Amino acid sequence: MTNATPSRRFGHVPVLLDQVIALLQPRDGALFIDATFGCGGYSKALLTSANCRVVAIDRDPQAREVATNMKDANGPRFDFVQGNFGAMQNHLHAKGFSSVDGGVVMDLGVSSTQLDDASRGFSFRRDGPLDMRMASDGPDAVSFVNEASEGEIARVIRSYGEERRARAVAKAIVFARKQRPILRTGQLASIIRRVVKKSVDGLDPATRTFQALRVHINNELNELAAGLASAENLLAAHGRLVVVSFHSLEDRVVKTFLRERVGKGSNPSRYQPTGQARSKPSFRLLTTRPIKPKPSEIVVNSRARSARLRAAERTAVDPWPGLVPA
Ligand SMILES: C[S@@+](CC[C@H](N)C(=O)[O-])C[C@H]1O[C@@H](n2cnc3c(N)ncnc32)[C@H](O)[C@@H]1O
Repeated sequence: MTNATPSRRFGHVPVLLDQVIALLQPRDGALFIDATFGCGGYSKALLTSANCRVVAIDRDPQAREVATNMKDANGPRFDFVQGNFGAMQNHLHAKGFSSVDGGVVMDLGVSSTQLDDASRGFSFRRDGPLDMRMASDGPDAVSFVNEASEGEIARVIRSYGEERRARAVAKAIVFARKQRPILRTGQLASIIRRVVKKSVDGLDPATRTFQALRVHINNELNELAAGLASAENLLAAHGRLVVVSFHSLEDRVVKTFLRERVGKGSNPSRYQPTGQARSKPSFRLLTTRPIKPKPSEIVVNSRARSARLRAAERTAVDPWPGLVPA
């Protein structure tokens, strides 16, 4: 636990909340999965919209405190699992559920609470230890930045941050760590700012590299792919999948998954042995284009500005073969 004040620790404003709840259509008796509980904004809205049940998941142990309060207020209608949503099926099976008739919602990335807590090491604006682990276990960003090869650092920054100056940033990191280890977010941000210019839209030069390191350290894109496949396996016919993403790499994974599952994918054979008949759509799209926040939401919550929501409804067809979630 951090020693931040409660208002900061519980300070995440749920993004696109009205749109998420309208698409999930909460109803009495139905089961919903809030796969990214965070500070519980979506879970709370679901529980107050209908007499439904919610199983919430978050890999961050710090989410447990808010979850415990929600459990106290809602009894058996609410349950919480600390773990990865990539293993959603295992978590649900362990709780005795084999299918989900309501919906699954995923609100990707980190919460404002995690970002604003300097001790978590996600922020280039607040100096803190270079950690970046959502679950506070496994290798942290300090190990990667100080131990990985220059080529590997450049690959991660280019692939997960879409940073054109990835090689220059990697070179500067390797040069700097020879002088002294890079242990703080502020130290890393200054190294990046020496080689990447501020963009015309005013974006901090450290933004893309910090995003890349976070995505890599938390294995976010593989987790997302496993989470989407888990949701497909769990959802009953008419159950809904709603995903809010915050950068183009995440959105691309969601868009590609849904396009394939609604039968518009360019390469269905990726999931099927050659010669096998093409699977029938396992989802029906509810959003032909991603839903974006209205300017009125962005004015009060600047974090919402890059949000993109995609949603689909499960058909009665069996889940597609292929990716087996963890
Ligand atoms: C944007 S926040 C969710 C905020 C939440 N909707 C709310 O209203 O407070 C994302 C949360 O998902 C969690 N998370 C991210 N990736 C995860 C994963 N693969 N498995 C489980 N939780 C994850 C993070 O720890 C974070 O708490």
